Amino acid sequence: MDTAFPTGPIPDVALNDGHTLPAIGLGTYTLNGSGGAAAMASAIREGYRLLDAAFNYENEGALGEAIRISGVPRSELVLASKLPGRHHRHAEALATIDESLWRAGLEYYDLYLIHWPNPRQGHYVEAWRALIEARKRGLVQSIGVSNFLPEHIDRLIAETGVVPAVNQIERHPRFQQWGQIAFDRSHSIVTQAWSPLGRGSLLDDPVLSEIATRHDRTVGQIVLRWQVQSGCLPLPKSTSPARQAENLAVFDFELSTNDMTAIAAVDRSDGRLNNQDPAIYEEF
Ligand code: A2P
Repeated sequence: MDTAFPTGPIPDVALNDGHTLPAIGLGTYTLNGSGGAAAMASAIREGYRLLDAAFNYENEGALGEAIRISGVPRSELVLASKLPGRHHRHAEALATIDESLWRAGLEYYDLYLIHWPNPRQGHYVEAWRALIEARKRGLVQSIGVSNFLPEHIDRLIAETGVVPAVNQIERHPRFQQWGQIAFDRSHSIVTQAWSPLGRGSLLDDPVLSEIATRHDRTVGQIVLRWQVQSGCLPLPKSTSPARQAENLAVFDFELSTNDMTAIAAVDRSDGRLNNQDPAIYEEF
């Protein structure tokens, strides 16, 4: 590695099903085709082991190519994908997982999530039963959800008795989601953060900039360290090898209680990036 940020070991986070995940991973939204595969392969070279793809990102093929060109054994990688809203019906969900695997050239995913609950359609329990079945068949190792609110998770548990291992939600300093994190934690569910850097929109925030200057770190590193210290597993995306490495180097310093309090004040109730409230937003 020839970057300025040696990464050191990435800690593991324990899941409620006996498996573990690296404490940070690569978000891959918009990393498609040959450029996307090159960016993912670069991330693997920089030390990422967890890569978070989705059927709807249309990049499971690029993920498979990245694995092949990285030369890192598949067994050392932790690969995740997600079920789209249009395929929540049981048979379609299982066929989609099969297609997800085929696109990446994989025999199993380490983690597979329901991408959105789409509550008005109301088929997410059926999708959950399909993920439980896929796990039984060895197609996926751990199963979870994304963008699920407490009421959706309560329903999954009440109807199937199976608690998701992960809930992946929008989370960044302008939208901190402490209530959802507390709910997830009380059910031993690991909260992952998508757009953990607010898609780059926070880089000139004065509170974050002041903390970054004091710690001699970048704002990106402060935000990712804040995610980790909040008990979240961030999935930052970057196409740049230097920023990929920078984003991994957050396990050798700590934010103080005062820093955490200052960042808490950046929270906004209307801070979602694209107004995607899972209670009403639908994605197919
Ligand atoms: P780039 O790919 O050029 O690095 P998020 O993970 O919240 O969705 O944010 C992703 C966006 O933030 C991308 O546009 C990415 O651009 C940028 N980004 C990622 N890491 C950093 C960083 N450490 N500093 C500045 N910008 C970053």
